[in-house]
Amino acid sequence: FRAHLTVDPHFVVGPINRRLFGSFVEHLGRCVYDGIYEPSHATADEDGFRYDVIELVRELGVSTVRYPGGNFVSGYRWEDGIGPRDERPRRLDLAWHSTETNEIGLDEFATWLDKVDGELMYAINLGTRGVLEALDVLEYANLRSGTFWADKRVANGRPQPHDIRMWCLGNEMDGPWQLGHSTAEEYAQLAATTAAAMRQVDPDLELVVCGSSGAQMPTFGEWERVVLEKTYDDVDFISCHAYYEPKGGDYGSFLASGVNMDRFIDAVVATADSVKAVVRSDKTINISFDEWNVWYQSRYNDVDKITDVQTWPVAPRLLEDSYSVLDAVVFGSLMISLIRHADRVTSASLAQLVNVIAPIMTEPGGPAWRQTTFYPFSLTSKLARSTALELRLDCPTYATEEYGEVSLVDAVATHDDGGTTIFAVNRSLTDEVTLEIDTRALAGVGRAEAISLFDDDIHAANTLAHQDRVTPKANTSVEIGEATVTITLPPVSWTVLTLA
Ligand code: AHR
Repeated sequence: FRAHLTVDPHFVVGPINRRLFGSFVEHLGRCVYDGIYEPSHATADEDGFRYDVIELVRELGVSTVRYPGGNFVSGYRWEDGIGPRDERPRRLDLAWHSTETNEIGLDEFATWLDKVDGELMYAINLGTRGVLEALDVLEYANLRSGTFWADKRVANGRPQPHDIRMWCLGNEMDGPWQLGHSTAEEYAQLAATTAAAMRQVDPDLELVVCGSSGAQMPTFGEWERVVLEKTYDDVDFISCHAYYEPKGGDYGSFLASGVNMDRFIDAVVATADSVKAVVRSDKTINISFDEWNVWYQSRYNDVDKITDVQTWPVAPRLLEDSYSVLDAVVFGSLMISLIRHADRVTSASLAQLVNVIAPIMTEPGGPAWRQTTFYPFSLTSKLARSTALELRLDCPTYATEEYGEVSLVDAVATHDDGGTTIFAVNRSLTDEVTLEIDTRALAGVGRAEAISLFDDDIHAANTLAHQDRVTPKANTSVEIGEATVTITLPPVSWTVLTLA
């Protein structure tokens, strides 16, 4: 097969906000405990954080990190996680049938984030708590001193405020599984009141209101409309969440998951802009895609197996998906979709970061390693240029059960004065695609280098026993012509091509 791509730096989608390369740490399974935090580990630093994990997180190149949940947050009392450790309560975590020890809380997490150069995005509990608790944690986190909660933070050894800019107003409140699940009207009222109160403390906060837990939810669309009509003036973002997995061995549809993500984003943007007209606002609401990933929900139903509430474990192994080459290609295509919408998706969080549906895995007392999905994330974060471009892509299509005819190749280009970087996936299960890129609009291409992720075995994965089974390889098929650059994309592959 052959595909043809035209790149022109004049056709700009928008600047790529670095927050697009965010992630998510939830108190869930072994994400925090035995993930980022393991005081007895050989690499643990003075605060008990695993240094091998810190190094991998830095290499991954994450920006913002959403914390502390997720479903966990809807039963969370943030005050449990501050002050002397030996006085912190152990609590039931209803979302994940676990016991929460509260050894890590806001202050410790902020300390860890400093070590990985991350920005904290904090989710408040609007499932079982309300306006007052939101104001309390805001005061604790962001005020200098002189008031009750700010002084407590100072007394807890944190003289400087955390100065958290982005705040999520609850989590997945449309989901029946959520503690405190409510109707769109009920949630909209609570979110509006909370947002307005938080803005009385600091009008410049960036607030994220909950959108749907997924485009498959029965209330999707209507939920966004109702919630935004009520909160429009007081919020800046609406959230999107999406997880993908192959259904019944239908890899063709799975490889086209990015099409679903594109449509999801377009629908939320259309709804937000429609509400903008209705409420006659000059402000534009952007998307915080604050949970996205491949997640084998049908394979790992581990939470349901933890039944006896008297013995809920601390940090059990939950949602520990092992990712294949196929998964990593889909994952890379989801990043392409996010970048393609950089004008409206100005924040995103890969869910999650360590052990729990994660690019980084650890063994207690043992090594930390990169899953296959680590590579598309780290290379996109590292090599994406600062502006997303519109592309002209002419390419054969194939039929999918879920999304109809879809393009065999998907791609996005990014550009700035330093050069152009193109990200592409070949969705074919069987065939190579030769991609011919028209580079006439670029001011001469002297150097072209590519890295691809693919394997003869699309189910190959990195495991404790074989930590480097799958790594990206240099793609040496690149050829620079007079007005074109050509490259061969192997079947089921993800590729980054840098032009300068
Ligand atoms: O990321 C795992 C879970 O998925 C989160 O806790 C929840 O928000 C979503 O349903």
